[in-house]
Amino acid sequence: MAPLFLFGLSLTVSLLAISRKSVPFTRPAQMQTVTLIPGDGIGPEISAAVVKIFESAKAPIRWEERNVTAIKGPGGKWMIPPDAKESMDRSKIGLKGPLKTPIAAGHPSMNLLLRKTFDLYANVRPCVSIEGYKTPYTDVDLVTIRENTEGEYSGIEHVIVDGVVQSIKLITENASRRIAEYAFEYARNNQRSSVTAVHKANIMRMSDGLFLRKCREVAENYKDIKFTEMYLDTVCLNMVQDPTQFDVLVMPNLYGDILSDLCAGLIGGLGVTPSGNIGANGVAIFESVHGTAPDIAGLDLANPTALLLSAVMMLRHMGLHEYASRIQTACFDTIRDKKVLTKDLGGNSKCSEFTSEICHRVQDLA
Ligand code: NAI
Repeated sequence: MAPLFLFGLSLTVSLLAISRKSVPFTRPAQMQTVTLIPGDGIGPEISAAVVKIFESAKAPIRWEERNVTAIKGPGGKWMIPPDAKESMDRSKIGLKGPLKTPIAAGHPSMNLLLRKTFDLYANVRPCVSIEGYKTPYTDVDLVTIRENTEGEYSGIEHVIVDGVVQSIKLITENASRRIAEYAFEYARNNQRSSVTAVHKANIMRMSDGLFLRKCREVAENYKDIKFTEMYLDTVCLNMVQDPTQFDVLVMPNLYGDILSDLCAGLIGGLGVTPSGNIGANGVAIFESVHGTAPDIAGLDLANPTALLLSAVMMLRHMGLHEYASRIQTACFDTIRDKKVLTKDLGGNSKCSEFTSEICHRVQDLA
């Protein structure tokens, strides 16, 4: 188990930033186990790429590979396979590729199930412009923090009468306070200066009203961090006009799902955006935010950057900063040089060629 868990929330949140700075490599660290969930579609290809790059970096990670498919437990309840749960319970840290969510398959989204099983209440997505990868925006440097367990994604839906379906948006005081505290701790520990609460309390007065009230209360304890509140629609408008005005944004589940994808678009899309799902009791799962890309699965065309940068976040979470910096530098240098790029990044290289280039660079940085 990673020793860092002993230090609690404030240290955990300080380790998640995607930093542009590089840290000199000094000494080997102790082996730590990570549960690897390769996922579906391009998942196995990009997971293999990450494993290869970690090997080149001699990162002290022992991978424990587990497949995750929904199974029915006692009483007909959907659950993740026991061997995957047991591995996560032990390692506390997971790296996950994309999982396909068949529509109308009868079982809930596996991503949702994982979040619920491990109470992964905070989804953290740093969106930082990548040098050399041109998008309409430069100098984007913001973090979206999404409440991950309730809101519109509580999974409470029912038919009232034929042709009428009701879906419940659940907002609780505890979950709202917990995510607000996480956002402020994150800001404080990552030298960020402001937190914006994103809401629609003008329309959903009770539910978003409660969320906002908890953000305001928590803000009182963080006078060193500037607190602002903004309607979701205003944030969207301002975000595409000038994203540099934002720093840390905290919001309920559905808004976070949509806004974090919008922010990923500002820096080049889902193929380059990492994320971490942070839970209670020290559990965390890091994942690429794109889907299984069935159109290119098995063709050696996938871009492994998002999963790799998620793995870099994971290394920082585990206190392995030197390895994280080396791998991140090798990845960003590869993109900046533009010689070996996957198709989605504007190049012609295969996933395996892009991976090998990063491996060479990681070794050169040792
Ligand atoms: P998608 O993200 O899989 O694909 C959208 C487009 O982006 C496709 O053209 C794809 O080729 C491209 N793309 C995505 N990742 C890429 C990468 N790393 N490198 C190069 N190109 C990449 O979205 P889609 O098609 O809506 O979803 C497919 C499946 O993935 C669905 O079953 C969906 O439920 C699941 N999904 C899973 C997620 C997760 O596990 N976190 C997130 C989003 C979708």
